[in-house]
Amino acid sequence: MNGSRPWWQSAVIYQIYPRSFQDTNDDGIGDLNGITQRLPDLIDLGVDAIWISPIFRSPMKDFGYDISDYVDVDPIFGTMADFERLIAEAHARGIKVILDFVPNHSSDQHAWFLESRASRTSAKRDWYIWRDPAPGGGPPNNWLSEFGGSAWEFDAATGQYYYHAFLNSQPDLNWRNPEVVAAMRDVLRFWMRKGIDGFRVDVIWHLIKDRQFRDNPPNPNYHAGRPPNEALIPLYTTDLPEVHDVIGTLRRTVDEFPDRLLIGEIYLPVERLVAYYGRDLGGVHLPFNFALLSARWDAKHLQALITEYEGALPKGGWPNWVLGNHDRPRIAGRVGQRQAAVAAMLLLTLRGTPTIYNGDELGMPQVDIPRHRVRDPFERNVPGIGVGRDGCRTPMQWDSSRNAGFSRVDPWLPLADDWRSNNVANLREDALSILNLYRRLLRVRKERPALSLGSYRPYVVDEDLLAYYRELNDSRLLIVLNLTDGPQALKLEEGAHARILVSTEAKRDGDLVKGTVTLAGDEGLVIDMASR
Ligand code: GLC
Repeated sequence: MNGSRPWWQSAVIYQIYPRSFQDTNDDGIGDLNGITQRLPDLIDLGVDAIWISPIFRSPMKDFGYDISDYVDVDPIFGTMADFERLIAEAHARGIKVILDFVPNHSSDQHAWFLESRASRTSAKRDWYIWRDPAPGGGPPNNWLSEFGGSAWEFDAATGQYYYHAFLNSQPDLNWRNPEVVAAMRDVLRFWMRKGIDGFRVDVIWHLIKDRQFRDNPPNPNYHAGRPPNEALIPLYTTDLPEVHDVIGTLRRTVDEFPDRLLIGEIYLPVERLVAYYGRDLGGVHLPFNFALLSARWDAKHLQALITEYEGALPKGGWPNWVLGNHDRPRIAGRVGQRQAAVAAMLLLTLRGTPTIYNGDELGMPQVDIPRHRVRDPFERNVPGIGVGRDGCRTPMQWDSSRNAGFSRVDPWLPLADDWRSNNVANLREDALSILNLYRRLLRVRKERPALSLGSYRPYVVDEDLLAYYRELNDSRLLIVLNLTDGPQALKLEEGAHARILVSTEAKRDGDLVKGTVTLAGDEGLVIDMASR
């Protein structure tokens, strides 16, 4: 596609949360046929690849992140034949398909765990992490679950505890056991043989735990209102040096097939994150960069964060950016509807592979979920401090028909209040809508390789405006983002002949600019600086 560059460097990834995308079998939950049916919408949007959150067989305690069979499709989502049809139809349209791989833990209903749990001498006992009680009784150490409480669950029948970093129905697999590694490599091969183009690997920095099971140290910065597991620093439970050996093995497995992509889900500070590219870049291709998910929304801070990330990248490490996902509050909820358009322009003009979270292209809001409708196990275990993830997982808003065209029956989560006006069908008709902004930006990205592959160079930055160049050969684009709701002006380079390629306001596309460019409040511009 781009000479010798791998496809994913110039691609835009679109994350689908399948339960909330499109229901076709009237159970209020999205399914694989729904994704297939919506492929034309994704073509119209202009994305290159879809990453689908887990669709494997699961008791759905953590909505698919608790897998009971890694090589089968859950009936809620459809059949293996539906899945094969989805890949075929996506590929026929030039869309790549990335699956979610959840290797850190399985469901407690997985046959491996049932066998492991059956007795201390079971052949699969060591596939999971079992420990005797502490000498005086109680859990083996102080490790805490991400979803509240101890990370150890007592199994009365065999008198030992098993470790679970998340729910007690999500026991952690023992990645120090070569049989586990071999079994999981076969899972990857199984899906690659079906034609899958890559994997997003769930909580990859969790895979290896301390061999000596030492207590995690207290976190001096912990304060009330934060999730209880943050009371400890996860020194002995995450980001251990040996995790990179495991990831190297996963990468070699993926490399057995041509052109496959490996993405890692990693919540770590930048300097730790970039280690996941691996020595000699033999780690994941893209360690997800979540810096924007929690960034303070001012120009200076964003500029600093971009510079820090660019500076930390290892030689040959390809950058990537994420603005939203199924675990974090919606961008429109964080920065407001109007800044969500500016955020879209930022996501799609920074250097590196962007991932769009489904619904963000509509500016979908963060939805307040009434207590009786809460489904997220995290919120149920740790209520009242705002950790709930249902609010960013509400159904896609397709049109103004019943249930926003998502389902003919009541959906599993409530719709956002704005669905009657704020939906794909309506926004598609409105030239100024955020959906059409996404479409225009994605089209310009295709026409102007400088946006996907060009270099990044900061222009100026003050509190209010963020401006940077993207340059490739003789193509030079200037991106100017107004982070405030009032007008702002920016002086262009002396003698520049410039033309607006994309404005968040649309009306200005194609306008010539000279000398000083003025931006309306909440406006962003992509300016072609080489235009005459
Ligand atoms: C990842 C997933 C999240 C899930 C957790 C446990 O963070 O994104 O949704 O709950 O892993 O699997």
